Amino acid sequence: MSVIGAPLDRRDGPAKTAGAARFAAEHLRPGLTHAALVHATVSRGRVTRLDTTAASAVPGVITVLTHHNAPPLKPAPKVNPLNLSTLVSGTSVNYLQDDEVHFDGQPVAVVVAETSAAAKEAAALVRAEYALLPSTVDFESMAPHAKKQTYSPVSPGAAKKGDAEKAFGEAPVTVDHRYTTPPHQHNAIEPHATIAEWDGDRLTVHDSTQSIDWCRNHLAIRFGLPAADVRVIAPFVGGGFGGKAMVWPGTILAALAARATGRPVRLALTREDVYRTVGGRTPSIQRVALGADRDGALTALIHTSVTRTGRVGGAPEQVTSQSRHLYDADHILIRASTVELDLVPNTSMRAPGESIGTFAVESAVDELAAELGMDPIELRMRNEPERNPLDGKEFTHRRLREVYEAGARRFGWRDRAPEPGVTRDGRWLVGMGVATAYHPAWVFTANLTLRLSADGTVLLRCGFQEMGMGAATALAQVTADALGVPVDSVRVEYGDSALPMAPAAGGSMQTASVAASVLDAVEKLKRRLPKGAGDPVAAVRRAGMPHVEVSVGSDTRFGRLAGQARLIGRFVRDRRRVRAATGAQFCEVRVDPDTGEVRISRWLGVFDIGTVVNTKTAASQLRGGIVMGIGMALSEETLVDPRTGRIMNPSLAEYHVPVHADVPRIEVSTLDDPDPTTPLGIVGAGEVGITGVAAAVANAVFHATGRRVRDLPITLDKVI
Ligand code: MOS
Repeated sequence: MSVIGAPLDRRDGPAKTAGAARFAAEHLRPGLTHAALVHATVSRGRVTRLDTTAASAVPGVITVLTHHNAPPLKPAPKVNPLNLSTLVSGTSVNYLQDDEVHFDGQPVAVVVAETSAAAKEAAALVRAEYALLPSTVDFESMAPHAKKQTYSPVSPGAAKKGDAEKAFGEAPVTVDHRYTTPPHQHNAIEPHATIAEWDGDRLTVHDSTQSIDWCRNHLAIRFGLPAADVRVIAPFVGGGFGGKAMVWPGTILAALAARATGRPVRLALTREDVYRTVGGRTPSIQRVALGADRDGALTALIHTSVTRTGRVGGAPEQVTSQSRHLYDADHILIRASTVELDLVPNTSMRAPGESIGTFAVESAVDELAAELGMDPIELRMRNEPERNPLDGKEFTHRRLREVYEAGARRFGWRDRAPEPGVTRDGRWLVGMGVATAYHPAWVFTANLTLRLSADGTVLLRCGFQEMGMGAATALAQVTADALGVPVDSVRVEYGDSALPMAPAAGGSMQTASVAASVLDAVEKLKRRLPKGAGDPVAAVRRAGMPHVEVSVGSDTRFGRLAGQARLIGRFVRDRRRVRAATGAQFCEVRVDPDTGEVRISRWLGVFDIGTVVNTKTAASQLRGGIVMGIGMALSEETLVDPRTGRIMNPSLAEYHVPVHADVPRIEVSTLDDPDPTTPLGIVGAGEVGITGVAAAVANAVFHATGRRVRDLPITLDKVI
């Protein structure tokens, strides 16, 4: 029986639950020192005075690094789309190299001390004075001046079919609303941390990263080293969500401090450090205008967005991109624009684009259903396209009808009263809402080696990342299945840049990408074995070899170029069709009519994520996405002082993520239907779970109360 789909426990689970797993900050090196950051408190300016006297006098302090005495660092590379490692600079700031401040929170000094306590105490004693330069930090007031977004060939934010404004003007039934979402902050359970150690001109770092390969290449560029002289180790990462995809100042400054002191340096960011130096999610202002005829057929779909980037980095977020694929309107207009602000640059956060884009478009569809007096699922089904609405491209796989039918049945959607504000449970107002989940699916390339030994054991070596989502377990399953060996005989080595390079754990593509190479490797291995010798293990024995090892891809310069070429080829091929993970989110809320308190009482997500490799870890991924979406819907909001650009709530006491009491039992189910165009039919499950969640909550709140909230988060002041 195939092990694909088996709900196996995570291989990294026992080490984590027993406390044996070593995370980035937990490697005790001989002579280890501890660093702490000093943050700028202005959004733009020049450091005119930096008094480190008191800090240096704290017992145990080894040095206070500033732009006066820090070792040299090379500037961030210019962005080159053909070289992905140039894209991973969290910011373009060259830390501690000059007196310029580009955002509130930028590190202006690093204290290195014998203990973490001494470093922190001293950091608090560094006195900085600044000459202010004019800065622009307020998103709201700058939004009208946003410029057309140009970036990202992968999911362009702009598109046009027909004349949507005209069709909208002529439509008998319309909705036209403005939706807003606030900035969000990264709050992985493990805050970013680095231990950096030099051995001559060779650098080793333990780093909490989503991409050891990008991190290694980036550090090599910044310190002027061959990539082979940098090693990044990250076998355990406590969550990533996009916040650990880029290289942020903490990683670079740990290496710089180790260079300066000649000793290993540990820089474990505090939660506040993460808020100040690691980008979060952009805020957005979105317009969705829908026009339909009286029986609900969409004639016009308009979705526009304004988002922000930082003046010193950050990729524009493709908030409107899912609206290119969702509904069969004759006329479509999609536009995205961006403002550049003097803030820590934004970065990707779980389903960048779709998670907040689906909030607007899926709320608007619900509003149109109310306007038409039509069931929101029926309205969606009426406009479900057979082909990609913009250009008629084929979908590789699109089963939203089945997803909705299965979900409606299981959730008891038929029992829902059509009118809002009429269903009660005691004092609670009860409402049900749905929304569509959507995330594109890509496959990258991965290098690896695969060894099959005569004793029946298998070793897969591949530098992918395990952030707790079950990648290592799922890839052992893929390997065991392809070779026809028991899964327990497959050992997987990962999380070290000394291994063959793999793509980042991001974009929901790691498992499919590595699986593609595993399948290639197994084919290659079988070709190397004598024919007609039975199963591969028997064949290795028959051949009298201790083991057979094959590799896919190579980390040489030429191998990397070949990998890029393969990737571009795959990308061009994939552009001919539209491939995505989809789903339907079903939410039930209870709202207190007096206080406006919203409690989520039931949740069901039904997803089409292609083949499910491990039903347990995939369900956990989808649930995790939903939990994060509930935070987005009800509580998460970064508060930026509109005068100074300073984040005002940099802690989990003031930035509210969902706790257990906020999250009901979440049911998820999947169609488990292979995508015909990916290895094993895998589509990726990491991000689709968060999409549609906030809209489903807003739609349920409307159904419960008759109150439409278009500005996240849905706090009680907006409900009553
Ligand atoms: Mo992600 S936002 O691709 O980690």
